[in-house]
Amino acid sequence: MLLSAEEIEEQLKKLNMIIPVRYYDAIGSTNSAAKLVHDETDKHYLVVAGRQTQGRGRNGRSFQSEFGGGYFSFTFSLGAEDVTTQLCGSVMLAVLAVRSVMEEYGVDCSIKWPNDVLCGGRKLCGILSEVVYDRDFPDYMVIGIGINVNNPLTGIEDIATSTLIETGRKLPVAEVVARIVRRFFEMLSDKDFEVMTEYRKCCATLGKNVRVTSPDEEFYGVAEDLDEKGMLVVRTQSGQRRVVSCGDVSIRDVLS
Ligand code: BTN
Repeated sequence: MLLSAEEIEEQLKKLNMIIPVRYYDAIGSTNSAAKLVHDETDKHYLVVAGRQTQGRGRNGRSFQSEFGGGYFSFTFSLGAEDVTTQLCGSVMLAVLAVRSVMEEYGVDCSIKWPNDVLCGGRKLCGILSEVVYDRDFPDYMVIGIGINVNNPLTGIEDIATSTLIETGRKLPVAEVVARIVRRFFEMLSDKDFEVMTEYRKCCATLGKNVRVTSPDEEFYGVAEDLDEKGMLVVRTQSGQRRVVSCGDVSIRDVLS
């Protein structure tokens, strides 16, 4: 069934949250649309799509977005901290928000650094965060979340899962989206919330053997820890300590 802006706003209102919503049955990418809407209105919107025709993932990958899933993006102002720290921190918050809401629906998830939410080793949700610059200055942030809810997983059944598969029942997409957005902003405004501590607790990548690939090189090592910005600290096979930024590498677990 198709969603509507009114239905999503209604769900947000139930959670005491007011944020304007734009809904599209189909759009290229909600991240791109959220930027356009923000630049047109100078307001922070929640942009939701029934499906995306050009869903974007990290590192230039595409993100399959068929009807039945939750595809949404929202913008918010940057604080005074260093931009990379805010970028990594907001991805971590988004991942934790998804995980926490999934728990409410009885879906147990782990995190693959930096931005994947997994169930039983298969991907349930991906997150794409982007900083938008005004001339040379960081202006605001876009967080885009794609979660497999009731949608088919055409050709990606081996590597992806959905809440439908995990629970055997259809979940209300508008409610799922509203709860995740609400939880994100709740965590963001809670000054006592220890993002890094909470993230470490459920990050399945830590302690694992990983392969790090970037356009320039590839190396193997053990994912030892996260640094103060949320970058992954990898001890390579030759004993070197390498700090891996979330922007430019992909991590593959090579042994569990
Ligand atoms: C990834 O897994 O690499 C990140 C996937 C992020 C997908 C979401 S769906 C909503 C938003 N719009 C996009 O085009 N991408 C994000």
